[in-house]
Amino acid sequence: MRVHVADHPLITHKLTVLRDATTPSSTFRALAKELVTLLAYEATRDVRVEPIEIQTPVTATTGVQIASPRPLVVPILRAGLGMLDGMTALLPTAEVGFLGMVRNEETLQPTTYANRLPDDLSGRQVFVLDPMLATGGSMLAAIRYLFDRGARDVTAVCLLGAPEGLGLLEEALPGENVHVVLGALDERLNEKGYIVPGLGDAGDRLYGTAH
Ligand code: PRP
Ligand code: URA
Repeated sequence: MRVHVADHPLITHKLTVLRDATTPSSTFRALAKELVTLLAYEATRDVRVEPIEIQTPVTATTGVQIASPRPLVVPILRAGLGMLDGMTALLPTAEVGFLGMVRNEETLQPTTYANRLPDDLSGRQVFVLDPMLATGGSMLAAIRYLFDRGARDVTAVCLLGAPEGLGLLEEALPGENVHVVLGALDERLNEKGYIVPGLGDAGDRLYGTAH
């Protein structure tokens, strides 16, 4: 498993505003989108391309286009939905699948309540979007779901991660072709499983309280 933690002042600046408890949902949504586009640049570094012949106004030349099968972007509902537009801005030809997951706030175990994915993901590059990698349980379940359908090349894009979540993925997916791209790696989880310093409940901050 490969891990990339963004080290860029613009990303850290935008994350600081995102973390601020006084930032309203409208600004939070706009910033989440901008941040994903910045992270997507790193996350798509190994996106598969194929050569294509084109004619410029001056001459014929060879360029590249995104290869087939097209990449699949999978936001984990709810909060991952706030990252979808930012990702597809950079990968407009990608297909989009959906996974709905919710973490039980007592046990911290995730359950999957919805999925809309192609049955066969063999040969597909898959980009999973979820702002928070906390215990890592939701992301691990999502990646296993994708593996069960044949995916073998998965990139997780998260705004914030905790060492506990990264550790779980590393332990559970040794040697797998999994790439984790984080906006920042925070200090730890608190006793309720929230990332510290974190930004609170990402879904609630994007869309309001759902309880
Ligand atoms: C949040 C977040 C992740 C999960 C992370 O979702 O968006 O999916 O928690 O926690 P974990 O790493 O400990 O599994 P939540 O369950 O709150 O659902 P929501 O997106 O609908 O708010
Ligand atoms: N889910 C969130 O939305 N925030 C956290 O800090 C942890 C899990």
